[in-house]
Amino acid sequence: MCGIVGYVGEKDAQNFLISGLKRLEYRGYDSAGIVTISENGKATLIRAKGKIVELEKKLSKNKNDDKIGIGHTRWATHGEPSENNAHPHKAGSIYLVHNGIIENYKELKAELVSSHDFKSNTDTEVLAALINSFYDNGKHPLVNAVVQALKLVKGTYGIAVVSELEPEEMVVARCGSPLVIGVGHDETLVASDASALVGHTKNAIYLNDGEVALITKNSIEVKTLNAEPVSAKVEEIETNLAAIQKGGYDHFLLKEIMEQPESLSETLRGRVDVENNTVHLGGPGLSQDELRSIKHLVIVGCGTAYHAGLLASYYIEKFTPEITVEVVIASEYRYRDAYIPDDSVALIVSQSGETADTLACLREIKKKGVKTIGIVNAIGSTIAREVDGGTYVHVGPEISVASTKAFTSQVIAMVMFGLTIAQAKSVKSSILAPYIKEIAALPEEIRKVLKDNSEIVKTIASKYVDYDHAIYLGRDTAYPSAMEGALKLKEISYVDANAYAFGELKHGPLALVDDRFFEIALLPEGPLFEKAVSNVQEVLARDGHMIVITDAQEFDLPVENVVKITTDIKIFTPLLMNLISQLFAYYTTVAKGFNVDQPRNLAKSVTVE
Ligand code: M6R
Repeated sequence: MCGIVGYVGEKDAQNFLISGLKRLEYRGYDSAGIVTISENGKATLIRAKGKIVELEKKLSKNKNDDKIGIGHTRWATHGEPSENNAHPHKAGSIYLVHNGIIENYKELKAELVSSHDFKSNTDTEVLAALINSFYDNGKHPLVNAVVQALKLVKGTYGIAVVSELEPEEMVVARCGSPLVIGVGHDETLVASDASALVGHTKNAIYLNDGEVALITKNSIEVKTLNAEPVSAKVEEIETNLAAIQKGGYDHFLLKEIMEQPESLSETLRGRVDVENNTVHLGGPGLSQDELRSIKHLVIVGCGTAYHAGLLASYYIEKFTPEITVEVVIASEYRYRDAYIPDDSVALIVSQSGETADTLACLREIKKKGVKTIGIVNAIGSTIAREVDGGTYVHVGPEISVASTKAFTSQVIAMVMFGLTIAQAKSVKSSILAPYIKEIAALPEEIRKVLKDNSEIVKTIASKYVDYDHAIYLGRDTAYPSAMEGALKLKEISYVDANAYAFGELKHGPLALVDDRFFEIALLPEGPLFEKAVSNVQEVLARDGHMIVITDAQEFDLPVENVVKITTDIKIFTPLLMNLISQLFAYYTTVAKGFNVDQPRNLAKSVTVE
């Protein structure tokens, strides 16, 4: 949520700031701004409501070649999206960009209101004024003023600060909101997400919570807020340019849907041994004894990550007896007085590795002495660094706000974790082998399903563009898949889509069926297929407008549309059906003419509660 960039070096700062903000725009896109400072301390502040293109329009009239600057793309928390509320915020001679939330801003503002003329409704301007009060017109070093101010702050922040009075340096700090420093030649770059640095440098320092850095074009000095020096580790940025570009697709979402054969292959690389029917996960770092002793799994996530956990739990229960699996929504669980039994392990699921509620759960669970394992995509993210062990899903950057390729890989990564437990518990190889075989075959099956069905789904989607309500239905493993399908549709096409377990229909939702609604039913072949078919008939008997997604080739009920998947997969069919749901949401949104990658009101990576 929100994106920060900063530059100090020998090149034109505005160029990097704008290109960096464009890379981070998926994190927040309701307003944006940059400030640059000339060698003699003249600031150029440009801010605009709306997307970065609005900022660019203003830039042409304010072009300069200043060598230092900071920028921000915003997702509003305090104060509506407007130019006044856009960052950077100014107080005296300092400018500040900020991600996160200053929780005690009201108390701080009450103290500052007599010395600072507040122009916005943001908590960020309060922090700017606070820093300025300690800066005292440059009488104290900027870095000291920042540290003194941050010691009074409650909440979360990733910040970058520059001053007209010290136009060769920048101060950055983090607490609960990521900040990366790119180490270049005669230039130092700053971003809240390493993707903004790709193509500029491969070397980065990831700040830890409670650290502050004073940076110039060729120096980076990291300290704790208590002034203890930190010897910061320079790490390699693994992302490449192709991974953050659309690569010929109209939208990141379609690219990310289509690259699932490759992204899942990356998840599996070196972890699946089909010949010996085993999986190997190094990251969790649990001994065979520890794995054997696990009796309970808690899976924590939000949104799509939660659905991934739910789907994985159905599988893990099927092949690992003597284990209970509880899947929880992070924003709820963090405040519950939940008892976690002995011999539990918690799986913390997050694509971004920065989701505030998931991170809070991780910290609560750790306090209870429970081992935590991350199922994370973003390398070096906060969750990845705070868990006891973990399995990266390695799907590469996911830029579209709607999560797609991460879901598929999260499910499989968790199933593989379940399989490692089952192996340690000596579950018969004949029980585990079908899972392992299918996991290995999935990337190719995904490729086939996407290729065979893309055009069919596009045509079907075009018929439902005028509907505002949808019901997704499924049983057993198809139910979490239906939930994920509904989330995708509602998130990007603004259709009021909800999922129900088929068995729940008669307990209420059946009353909804009328001409305002269409229904999407997921019908994998298997023990519950006939029951699901009966449920479809119940909807048809009420004149429901039904689309069925199935792998049963002989399915012949008179529904409005059928997507028949041809596949050898038997166990993980709901994952293949979810590809159809992803495509359906994509094509519906394109047909409706909405912004596919940046749906209204949302942002990638929810770093505030
Ligand atoms: O980065 P995370 O996986 O922790 O994000 C969790 C949710 O915010 C995320 O999955 C969200 O629901 C997506 N926009 C859904 O497409």
